[in-house]
Amino acid sequence: MKALAWAWRLALAGALCAAGAELASAQGVDAGALYQQHCASCHGAQRTGGMGPALLPESLARLRKPEALKTITQGRAATQMPGFADKLDAAQIQALVGLVYTPVLPAPRWSDDDIRASREAMADAARLPAKPQWQADPMNLFVVVEGGDHHVSLLDGDRFEVIHRFASRYALHGGPKFTPEGRWVYFGSRDGWITKYDLWNLKVVAEVRAGLNMRNVAVSGDGRWVMAANYLPGNVVLFDADLKLVKRWDAGSRVSAVYDATPRKSFVVALKDVPELWELAWDGASLRRTRLDEPLDDFFFDQSYRHALGATRERADGSAGAQVVDLEQQRKVAELPIAGMPHLGSGITFAWNGSTVLASPNLKGGAIDVIDMKDWKAVKTIATPGPGFFMRSHEATPYAWTDSMMSPTAKDTLTIIDKRTLQPVASVREPGRTLAHIEFTKDGRYALASVWEDDGALVVYDAATLKEVKRLPMRKPVGKYNVWNKITRSEGTSH
Ligand code: HEC
Repeated sequence: MKALAWAWRLALAGALCAAGAELASAQGVDAGALYQQHCASCHGAQRTGGMGPALLPESLARLRKPEALKTITQGRAATQMPGFADKLDAAQIQALVGLVYTPVLPAPRWSDDDIRASREAMADAARLPAKPQWQADPMNLFVVVEGGDHHVSLLDGDRFEVIHRFASRYALHGGPKFTPEGRWVYFGSRDGWITKYDLWNLKVVAEVRAGLNMRNVAVSGDGRWVMAANYLPGNVVLFDADLKLVKRWDAGSRVSAVYDATPRKSFVVALKDVPELWELAWDGASLRRTRLDEPLDDFFFDQSYRHALGATRERADGSAGAQVVDLEQQRKVAELPIAGMPHLGSGITFAWNGSTVLASPNLKGGAIDVIDMKDWKAVKTIATPGPGFFMRSHEATPYAWTDSMMSPTAKDTLTIIDKRTLQPVASVREPGRTLAHIEFTKDGRYALASVWEDDGALVVYDAATLKEVKRLPMRKPVGKYNVWNKITRSEGTSH
């Protein structure tokens, strides 16, 4: 396996510079030496990953320390991660936990040569049949990311049956991105891998490692370009459709996200540590920098793609705001009247009362903020049973669905809001479990939700009666993406 060959190359590089080996704990445990002895063969000498995932603070942001401790002590069932309870004592394991949450210094590098050397083509795309090799509507296909065991399921959106299931890279991050005819899909992994997959022939055709810790990838609306946004190294990297490196831009900052802005034939990039928004022509020929007062975190566009609407990063006092950036005028044109922590990356827009509004969940309060996009004024705050992450709707349904997955008591509830009255009208529950992330079928008749647990499920609801019509077991289905809704940039879903 190629990844293993890398683990060895990185092991060699690490032995030479002895990075990360300097950390010794108070008890006199040499965590660096323990790491090289017991972990480096799988996780890489510089902790940048190999057969196992990268163990860097950037990578472990979502893994709580007690969880990491448990993983190292007991291992992970049905994976290659062994338990170390019989080899290492408690102080040694504690020291290793401390080590993996400490930055590697100097920061590991990932050069253009590394990117090029990592690329592998598994199939010749030109020789594969140019039509689906399965019987279902290719436009109503769902790509379901199962985070529990790092697999992807392809679901027929008419019969709700799995057509195919395959192993993905470790911890996919950000939604998969489709080309305009719906044939190719690109997946990005937390460890920086981009995988190009042929949905019609059910085959991985190429892979490349764009960076060491990646946020997401974007695909140009003409299907010819792919851009990766990285935390480590802090850069954006442009590839052609075959994942050949075209160009790299160093940001001097972590990069929060990149999205395609098809009407503008550009990629828009948010920087995490620098108050600038970047717009790059699809082919990389030009870069426009818009200076801001505060960095933008995740963001989304209005339907015209003239404006980028983004939350600011959490400030020192724990607050955050939101801003509207006019991409033509290259400046901030409004502040959004949202307190708390809006999750604009998952906002939706819809027609209301003769105007267009945006609705976005708030990570702090249990609420949905609704804002008129004509004057950027608040229309309403809709209370939900607890803070949630996702909001989804579809042109063909009067309802918008949102979760409360950040609330310990209401994580099992989806709230259904009538887009005409802006009132919650119903809820569906999965008692004691986490219920989140809705996606609609192409025609908007069915809403698919995730039971977000390792022994989870995909639940299909009739979007009009809100009755469950089918349930498929899935391993922590963290996201599902309908080909049609994504390639037509449905107003009810993030793009
Ligand atoms: C034989 C290979 C192997 C060895 C040796 C190994 N690991 Fe792992 N480790 C893995 C794999 C594979 C995973 C991913 C498991 C999964 O799919 O959830 C993993 C996962 C982890 C995770 C969880 C990462 C995450 O993002 O969830 C931590 C933490 C970890 N390993 C730490 C260690 C430490 C510390 C050592 C040395 C004491 C070590 N590992 C040794 C293969 C290995």
